[in-house]
Amino acid sequence: MYLGLDIGTSAIKAVLLDESGALVAQQSASLSVSRPQPGWSEQAPEDWWRGFLDSIDALAAEKPREIAAVTGIGLSGQMHGATLLDQADAVLRPCILWNDGRSEAECAALEARQPDFHRLGGNLVMPGFTAPKLEWVRRHEPEVFAKVAKVLLPKDWVRLKLAGEYLSDLSDSAGTLWLDVGGRRWAPSLLEATGLNVSHMPGLVEGSAPAGLLRTELAERWGMGRVVLAGGAGDNAASACGIGVVNPGEGFVSLGTSGVLFACNAGFAPNVEGAVHAFCHALPNRWHQMGVVLSAAGSLAWLAEVLGVEAAELVAQLGDRPRGPGTLLFLPYLSGERTPHNDAAIRGAFIGLDVGHDRKALTQAVIEGVAFSLADCQAALAAAGTKLDSVIAVGGGARAGYWLQVLANVFNCRVLEPEGGDLGAAFGAARLGRLAASGEAVAEVCTQPPIRAAYDPDPEVAGAYGEALARYRKAYPALKEIQS
Ligand code: XUL
Repeated sequence: MYLGLDIGTSAIKAVLLDESGALVAQQSASLSVSRPQPGWSEQAPEDWWRGFLDSIDALAAEKPREIAAVTGIGLSGQMHGATLLDQADAVLRPCILWNDGRSEAECAALEARQPDFHRLGGNLVMPGFTAPKLEWVRRHEPEVFAKVAKVLLPKDWVRLKLAGEYLSDLSDSAGTLWLDVGGRRWAPSLLEATGLNVSHMPGLVEGSAPAGLLRTELAERWGMGRVVLAGGAGDNAASACGIGVVNPGEGFVSLGTSGVLFACNAGFAPNVEGAVHAFCHALPNRWHQMGVVLSAAGSLAWLAEVLGVEAAELVAQLGDRPRGPGTLLFLPYLSGERTPHNDAAIRGAFIGLDVGHDRKALTQAVIEGVAFSLADCQAALAAAGTKLDSVIAVGGGARAGYWLQVLANVFNCRVLEPEGGDLGAAFGAARLGRLAASGEAVAEVCTQPPIRAAYDPDPEVAGAYGEALARYRKAYPALKEIQS
């Protein structure tokens, strides 16, 4: 039996897989995000820990024999968060999350100071990443910075609680911007640019390699024996392992709080100008590229909250088959923008509101706006040499056939809906736990799921979506001008 633990932004999740790779049980606990100032986004690490303890306790109550048979645990989590610890491992301040935009000025300063961020780090210095967050703390909270002994990513802080080890994997660590991504090791020049050194970092392992043993008191609490923890992965690389996107040329689109277009690559392939994320994959000798939309299903959740209804209810009223784009445009920059504009300050818009527009029109516009913004990611990946013939869809939004058909029309490529609901990052994390505990081959474990439905571009409406995408692309510069 294998356990996968994922720290999402809105919930933590624990899944239990059996020896055949099938899901046996799952539990989750919701999380809230605190926004002490506009553009800020924080969580208390203790909330993640409490959520995991409750979830694993619940799994142990529901399936005591199965949980006792666990031999491997994989961790995954929201990337980039800065969890700051002092010498005694006490958490120094709330974790600054991936969608926090406070460090724009620090990004510009780091870009000017250290060209290695592009050369070795392979990425623009963007406020989402960890390095500029530490530079912000150094400038604005010097008394906190002076006490920092270790900087851990969210899932690696949970590993410290589970196994008492300071370790991380390469996919998640690439998102700190302190990694030499091509060389798969820490880059002292990048750490030095933010006043840190290698002693502030955890040790590095591949995501599928062993990385700690579950503490005895926790193993006893759940009736387990010897349990190996895997290196694990950032949530996107973990999702890729969960749906078998592990070979060059394979890709997926994720419609979670954030939206991601992910491609597996044979080598390190950056496109710094296009704000493409070029990171290590969670498996040896593989890398990946990503374009990231900060508010994807998050935009729909926002609309649903404002209208006081469930998101699923909003999508259901659109029917199954999109018949062409609406006249209303939506720009999903509710928490700023990552790929391709890298603009933490920009905010979203509805353009072209009409007295006749109703709930349905607003929903359709939101779904189309997120698809257009993912098409911008597709163009940025194409500029870095990546063309995907088909993509597997994951995340909460992937359960809406309407949304997947819009994506197929806008991407002009096949979108595949897997069987079995939301496999997600926790499922991939459990697979990494299995690889670390059993030493099996990646090809045996990280297989692709059966496909429930394939969505192909609809030639009757493809032209209309192309025109709408061109209109969408004109809106960002105009919005930028009036918002700055
Ligand atoms: C990736 C990113 C998000 C988070 C969400 O760069 O910031 O996808 O990992 O959990």
